[in-house]
Order: sequence, then C-alpha cells, then structure tokens
Amino acid sequence: MASLFLLSLLSLSLLPSPSYSRHTHLSKPPLLPHSASSSSPEIQQACKSTRFPDLCASQPYPLPSAAPSSLDVILSAIQISSDRLATAQSMIDSILASSAGNVNRTIAAKNCAVILAYSRRRTESTAGEAIPGGRTKDARAWLSAALLYQTGCWSGLRSVNDTSQVDQTIALLKTLTMLTSNALSMLVSYDRFGKDTAAWRPPATERDGFWEDSPGGGGGPSGLGFDGGVPSGLTADATVCKDGGSGCYATVQAAVDAAPENVGGGKRFVIHIKEGVYEETVRVPFEKKNVVFLGDGMGKTVITGSSNAGQPGVSTYNTATVGVLGDGFMASGLTIQNTAGPVTHQAVAFRSDSDFSVIENCEFLGNQDTLYAHSLRQYYKSCRIEGNVDFIFGNSASYFQDCQILVRPQQVKPEQGENNAVTAHGRTDPAQSTGFVFRNCLVNGTEEYMALYRSKPKVHKNFLGRPWKEYSRTVFIECNLEALISPQGWMPWSEDFALKTLYYGEFKNTGPGSDTSSRVSWSSRVPAEHVDTYSVKSFIQGDEWLPTS
Ligand SMILES: *[C@@H]1O[C@H](CO)[C@@H](O)[C@H](O)[C@H]1NC(C)=O
Ligand SMILES: *[C@@H]1O[C@H](CO)[C@@H](O)[C@H](O)[C@H]1NC(C)=O
Ligand SMILES: *[C@@H]1O[C@H](CO)[C@@H](O)[C@H](O)[C@H]1NC(C)=O
Repeated sequence: MASLFLLSLLSLSLLPSPSYSRHTHLSKPPLLPHSASSSSPEIQQACKSTRFPDLCASQPYPLPSAAPSSLDVILSAIQISSDRLATAQSMIDSILASSAGNVNRTIAAKNCAVILAYSRRRTESTAGEAIPGGRTKDARAWLSAALLYQTGCWSGLRSVNDTSQVDQTIALLKTLTMLTSNALSMLVSYDRFGKDTAAWRPPATERDGFWEDSPGGGGGPSGLGFDGGVPSGLTADATVCKDGGSGCYATVQAAVDAAPENVGGGKRFVIHIKEGVYEETVRVPFEKKNVVFLGDGMGKTVITGSSNAGQPGVSTYNTATVGVLGDGFMASGLTIQNTAGPVTHQAVAFRSDSDFSVIENCEFLGNQDTLYAHSLRQYYKSCRIEGNVDFIFGNSASYFQDCQILVRPQQVKPEQGENNAVTAHGRTDPAQSTGFVFRNCLVNGTEEYMALYRSKPKVHKNFLGRPWKEYSRTVFIECNLEALISPQGWMPWSEDFALKTLYYGEFKNTGPGSDTSSRVSWSSRVPAEHVDTYSVKSFIQGDEWLPTS
C-alpha cells in the first residue's frame, strides 16, 4: 500500500493536470533554466537516439539537476510530450466549441477528445508508475499506446481540415507525435543499452538486422508459447441470460455496467454469459478493469451486431460489436460477430485496447476487419477468427497461439475472385513495441471458401498480410499454412509503401502454403537464433501476467 501511495504521488508530481506549470513542481528541486537544460550533454547524447534529433535538441527540458540521470532525461522528454498533449487537448476543445452544425468536424473532434484522454492516461502511467517502478517493458508498451492515440487523432482530423484552427491543430499534433516518438526512442535505447546515453542509438528493426534480446523461452512445450490462459474454476459475480430471470441480467452491457471500477489486487469481476444470442453493442470502459466474460462455448453464447463504417458518422473503431478498453480483460467460450450485410465496409466484431488481456476459446466472425487488436498486449489462445479483407488488424502487440484463422467468402460475387490479406498490422513508429505473432496456428479457409477456391484457384488470392502502416510487423511461426496462401506470401498496400520498413517473418511453417521459395523479396525468414524474440515471454512479457492455472 505504501509503495502504491508513493507511486500515485509521483504520478501527480510528474504529470498533473493540463494546466500544469513546470514552475510548480511538488516534490522536485527547482528546475534549471531552459537554455541550460537543453544544452546539457546528457540531452545532446539522448537526442541522437531519436528519429527527430533537431526537434529533440530544441526543446526546453525540465531537468531536476545539473547532472541528470538518463531516466531524468527520459522523464523530462515525456513531460514535454505531456505538456504539448495538454495544448492539443485544449485546441480540440476549441474546435468542438466552434463546430456546432458541422457534423463531420464534430465527430472527428469528439473522437480526438476521447482518444487523447486515453493517451494522457497511458502517458501518466508510463511516467508515474512504470518508470519509477523499474518496469521498462510496461513503460514501452504504454508509451507506444499513447503515441498510437495521438497518431489516430492527427489522422482523423486531417479529413476535416477546413478551417485554419483545424490546420493549426493538425500541425501541433504532428509535432506532438514526433515528441512522443522521441521519448519512446529514448526509452527503447535505455532498455537496450542501459543508462549510458553515449551508447544509445536510434530505434532499429529486424529489417535493419536488429532483434530484441530475449530472456529465454516462455515456458510451454516449445519454449515459445505458453501453458496459460483464462484460469479455470472462476466463480461468477454476475450472470447474463436471455430471459433475464431472477438474479440474471438480460444484457451483457447491464452486467458490465454493474461491475465495480478499477478492480485490482488480483481480483476480477466474472460475468457468466449463458447460452443464447445477445444482439447488442457492448462497451467495457477504461475504468472497468479485470472484467471476465465466460460463455457457455463458441457458437452457444453469441454476441452479435451489424454496425459498419458505411453508416454516416460511424468510424471503423466504433463499428465493434464488443469494444474493450479496461486492462486485464479476459474472455472464454463465446462467439462475437459482426453480421453487417453485403456492400458494407469495415465492420468490426471485436476491438480491444486492453493491456494484459487473455482471450481463449473464442470465435470472432466477420468479413472485412473482423478483429481490431488496436493497442497494447493481447494474448489469444485456441481461438477461431474468420474474415476476408485485413481481418486481423491494429497496432497492438498481439500473440495468437493455437488459433484457427479462416478465410471466408466475400459477400458480393464471391466466385469472381479476390485478394485477401489475413493481417494488416499498423505500426507507425519503429520504437513501438507492437506486432502480431502467430504461433502454431492454422491458416485455412472455411469449407464454403475452400470449395470456391478449389473451383478456380487462380482468382482467389490470399496473403498473410499487408502493411497498413509503415512499420507493420507480423510473424508466423510453426503454423500450418494451407494451399490457399499464395506463393508470394504477402501483398503490398499501395505501390512500394512500407516495403522497406515493414518486417514480415516466417519460421518453420508447414503445409502447402508454407513454401517460401517464391515469397516477395521484402519478406523474411526469421533466423533460428532470434526466434525467441517472439516467445510469449519476450514479446508480451506473458510470464509476468498470464495466469497459469
Ligand atoms: C462528411 O463526411 C461524409 C462521409 O465521409 C461525406 O460524404 C460528406 O461529404 C462530408 N460532409 C461534408 C460537409 O464535408
Ligand atoms: C489544410 O488545408 C489548408 C488549406 O486548404 C492547406 O493549406 C493545408 O496544407 C492543409 N493542412 C493539412 C495538414 O493537410
Ligand atoms: C482446411 O479446410 C478444408 C475445407 O474445410 C479441409 O478439408 C481441410 O482439412 C482443412 N485443413 C486442415 C489442415 O485442417
């Protein structure tokens, strides 16, 4: 308890409200004048490890002493990002206030207000909890997510650039993403090279020949996977049933609403969702942590929706039938689907921003964009995921173990043929600790799709992934790739976009689609000595948080 209290004090003193002034620090010594702080040799060195060194070196760093430690530098870089984030938040408020009557701009600004608030929370817990607690991997994961939300706001606002106020905000957000990227790069260097800033280097990826050190395998029979998942023997705190009988909620959302906020200390709020089809949109908010959905089995407990991005004012993000923000979310034994009809657009079944989340024995059904693994660390075990275009996508660090990934027919003229990408990972910055790992999964088509495929294999093309964003990262390890996977393996997004920066790796896959002799030149084989980088332990630190019982 004492240490928790200390941590919350720290987080208050480091990153309080948007009106924070760097001259009113609570617990730190007076700060150096700005000119002195940015010329500190420690800052000069640290800035060399960033992607935007000039911007980095031009900032007024609020350092606590004339001889700052490397962590002081990182914390002050985060502080600078946080201050700029506060400015961005108030500019978004102004846009909202002056956009009455402009529907599109109002939607974009509202969306920004929501996701920048998530960015703030992840930034605060990076500086207030993870770094002071020595939890560098958590710090990297959380600051990666903070950057993702800033990038998301910037990108959404660009489509409603019709006033100078919006134009200015877009410019500010761009700078904000660069400042956050810089702080994140420093954090990556600190993790990789230690506290001596002279050793720091700009973030590198596998394409540059760099693999993260791995602390050995992650347990489990192969050393890569994990013998854990949703714990057995959980007792229900709430029950949902179709007839809403005695002691039973009639909707999943009503049970989520009944969950207490910020459940922690190893406690969970377990919701048993009895067999039945629940037609509803479910949202698990940021404050509802450690919520567990226990169904009666895939295909028995079904949560279904049909929102799609073709509807006015609905973004892909908001189409999700089930959308989860609270950390520590778990689900087992259920189906989540989006049944948006033909000629629809993006239609998400499940979307998650839950760090430390565990999904086991669940089925996700959709077409384009079925599973939006949006941010942070997610572990999927023994799941079935069906879709066609980009149907597993997002910028999370997600691990798929023992899953069945099934292509299903497109809804319009399925016999005509198509190009499907199983994944579209969306990493925008090489310092983000995100990527998709598939291990011991089957990539196949549904029976219906395979019948179509076999009738005309030449027109039905399926690829393991395509780069939604510049630093897209996806690997398939020891998976069974059925014949539907094209010999080229991977497809471009648009011309040569991201082809030099993405990392698409394969290792010891089997099945007729696994022959790598005709793969596109910009995909890779994972070197055996580096495959441990993609263990549950190394990639998502599963050994620290995944239940083993
Ligand atoms: C608002 O967005 C919709 C969908 O993107 C678009 O069709 C419409 O033209 C936009 N309205 C204005 C006023 O820009
Ligand atoms: C926004 O629109 C203005 C005016 O058309 C243009 O000059 C500016 O470059 C645009 N900004 C962005 C970020 O696209
Ligand atoms: C792939 O799907 C087809 C059609 O349902 C099925 O015949 C085949 O056995 C599946 N492959 C594997 C490895 O399960």
